[in-house]
Amino acid sequence: MDICVGIKLSKEKVLNLLAYFDDSSDIPLHEGLNFDTYSEKLSQNAYFVLATDNGVQLGFIAYYLNYEANFAYIPQTVVHLSARHRGVGHMMFMSLYKELQDKVFALLQLEVLKNNTYARMFYAREGFVEIEVHGNRLLMEKVLAL
Ligand SMILES: CC(C)(COP(=O)(O)OP(=O)(O)OC[C@H]1O[C@@H](n2cnc3c(N)ncnc32)[C@H](O)[C@@H]1OP(=O)(O)O)[C@@H](O)C(=O)NCCC(=O)NCCS
Repeated sequence: MDICVGIKLSKEKVLNLLAYFDDSSDIPLHEGLNFDTYSEKLSQNAYFVLATDNGVQLGFIAYYLNYEANFAYIPQTVVHLSARHRGVGHMMFMSLYKELQDKVFALLQLEVLKNNTYARMFYAREGFVEIEVHGNRLLMEKVLAL
């Protein structure tokens, strides 16, 4: 498995990524997201962790970096349905922690649907704690050792 971190993608590549992982998300990505505007936004503002195996896409994390607050926020994490339970999610997060620690970013946050029990357990195992309720979502954060 290859994991690449700190990747910027063109809008077209983000569109392809969202389409490829559409049915692997907890809620299909196209539900509630306009792919065209969202791809533009991610292309301009987000960095990506990409997991591949011999050119086959296994998963991705999209993340934003706030350089003023040394803080990172993850709007999307998806591992392809066919690649689950092989440590892909964990390996992507390990690579991201290292990248953030190298940049002296100590705080990582994300939101998860309250009813996404599996993802909540996954993040809890990764060391994220639930800090706030935002409607049907929970804000979770992990503080990285620097
Ligand atoms: C949450 C998610 C990212 C986890 O990805 P994943 O790659 O399956 O996660 P991992 O493989 O690292 O860990 C999952 C399980 O595999 C196990 N595992 C890890 N490495 C393993 C390996 N080498 N061999 C076998 N099992 C392994 C872990 O112990 C864990 O066990 P569990 O079955 O008790 O949960 C994935 O389920 C997903 O994309 N879900 C849909 C989208 C989503 O909900 N995203 C979050 C919304 S914010």
